Amino acid sequence: MPWRRPRKHVDRARDIGRSEEEALEEKAEHAEEDEAVELAAIDGASIVEAATGEAEDERMPSDLAAKLGAAAEGHEFRAWGEEAEDREVADREVADREVADREVAGRDRVVGTARPEDTSPSEAVVAHVEDGVDLEVEVARGLRLRNPVLTASGTFGQGVEYAELIDVSRLGAMVNKGTTVHARPGNPQYRIAETPSGILNSIGLENPGAAAVAKKYGKEWPGLRLPVIVNVAGYTVADYVGVVLEMEGTPGVVAYELNVSCPNVKGGTLFGCDPELAAEVTRAVKAETDKPVIVKLTPSAPDVVAVARACEEAGADGLTAINTVPGMRIDVAKRRPVLGTGTGGLSGPAIRPIAVHITYQVARAVSIPIIGAGGVTCAKDALEFLMAGASAVQVGSATFADPLAPIKTVEGLAEYVRASGLASIRDIVGAAQRGGKRDAGTEYVQ
Ligand SMILES: Cc1cc2nc3c(=O)[nH]c(=O)nc-3n(C[C@H](O)[C@H](O)[C@H](O)COP(=O)(O)O)c2cc1C
Repeated sequence: MPWRRPRKHVDRARDIGRSEEEALEEKAEHAEEDEAVELAAIDGASIVEAATGEAEDERMPSDLAAKLGAAAEGHEFRAWGEEAEDREVADREVADREVADREVAGRDRVVGTARPEDTSPSEAVVAHVEDGVDLEVEVARGLRLRNPVLTASGTFGQGVEYAELIDVSRLGAMVNKGTTVHARPGNPQYRIAETPSGILNSIGLENPGAAAVAKKYGKEWPGLRLPVIVNVAGYTVADYVGVVLEMEGTPGVVAYELNVSCPNVKGGTLFGCDPELAAEVTRAVKAETDKPVIVKLTPSAPDVVAVARACEEAGADGLTAINTVPGMRIDVAKRRPVLGTGTGGLSGPAIRPIAVHITYQVARAVSIPIIGAGGVTCAKDALEFLMAGASAVQVGSATFADPLAPIKTVEGLAEYVRASGLASIRDIVGAAQRGGKRDAGTEYVQ
C-alpha cells in the first residue's frame, strides 16, 4: 500500500456485559472508521496529487516530492515494491548466472557511477546500467525513443513533480494526465480504493484544461529532457480535436495518446468499445496534427482486436494496450460501493495477464507498434509485454508504491539484453509469438 503510515493497533476496551452481536457491530463500526481514515489518507494526499499533477489547494508540489522522497528512501515501500525488489534480485541472479555460463566478456556492470579507471578525477561522468546497451525502440510510427519504458497517464502527474526526485531523463517518455478541452474538477470522494494486487480509481479526469496545461507545462517540459505524450480525453469527437489543437506547438510534446475510454455523449458507448467511433476520433485527430497519434485501447471493448484494426485503418500510428479494467468494491458496513462513483478502473498487477493477453492478440492483428500497459512493476513484467509483441511498456500504478519502479525497469531491461547476448532489446519483441508449439493458438477452452 503506497505511502500509508503503519497504523497503530488500538485495543478497544471490551464491555463484557454486551452480547457477541453487539460487540461485532461495534467492531464493524470501528473498522469502517479505520478504513475511512486509510482511504482518506491516500485519496486526499499523495495518490491524487501524483495522479493529477495538481497540488491540492493547501499543499505544494514539494510536499508530494517529500513523500516520494521518503518512499524512495525505503521508509514506506509496500507490498508491490518489496515484491518487485525480490523479483529483481532473483532476475539479477539469473542474469549473472547466464553471463557466467556464456563466458561473455561483457563490460562491468556499473550502477550509478563510472569505473574509476575510465575517468580522470576531473571527469566525473555518471554512468548508468543502460549506457551502451541498445534499448532504442519505435513506439509509434515516426516516434523513436531511447528506451521502451514510459510512464502511464494519470500516474506520473505532469512529470515535473517526479523530476524533483528521480532522473526522469533516463526514461523513454512520459504520458501526462488525461487532458480535456475544459478544466474538470474530478469525481466525488472516494476516488481511490485498495484491492488485492491493484488499485481501483475513479479520479474523473481532474485537470486544468488543455490551454492551462499547454501554458504552464510548455515552459517546464523541455527542461525535463523527457519526451511528453499528451493523453487526450473527451466526450465528443470535437473535444478530442479541440485538445490537440490547443496543445499543438507546445514545447516538449512529441505525440498524442487518445484515451478512448470515455463515454460518447451521443449514445453513452465508450469511444473505444465501438470500432467505428474509435476510427472516427482517430481520423479526426490525424487530420489536425502531423505528430504521431496513439490510440489507447480499453479492455471493455467487446472485440478489442476489431477496434485495434479499425484504428490502424483510420491512420493510428500506434496503440496502447490497455486502460484500466472496470471494477467495484463494496463497503460492507455501509452497504454501498466504496468509490464515490460506484464503479472504478482497476489497475496494477491484478490486470497484467489481461493486458498481456490483449497485447498478444492485437500484435497478431496489426502492424503498427503497441505499447503494453497494465501491472508492470519491473523488467520481468515488461519482458512479458515485449515478448507478447509490444515495442514498449508503460509503468503506472507501480510508481505509487515505488517511484523508482520505471527507472529500475530500464536498468533491468538493459541487464537482460546484456546477459542474454542480444544485440538490442528489439530482438525480443514478439519472441513469444514466433515458432514453438505454444504459438499454435491463444483460444482458451475451459
Ligand atoms: C490514478 C490513476 C489515474 C489514471 N488516469 C488516466 C488518465 O487520465 N488517462 C488514461 O488514459 N489512463 C489513466 N489511467 C490508466 C493508466 O494510464 C494505465 O493504463 C492503467 O493504470 C494500467 O496500468 P498500471 O496497471 O501500470 O497502472 C489512470 C490510472 C490510475 C491508477
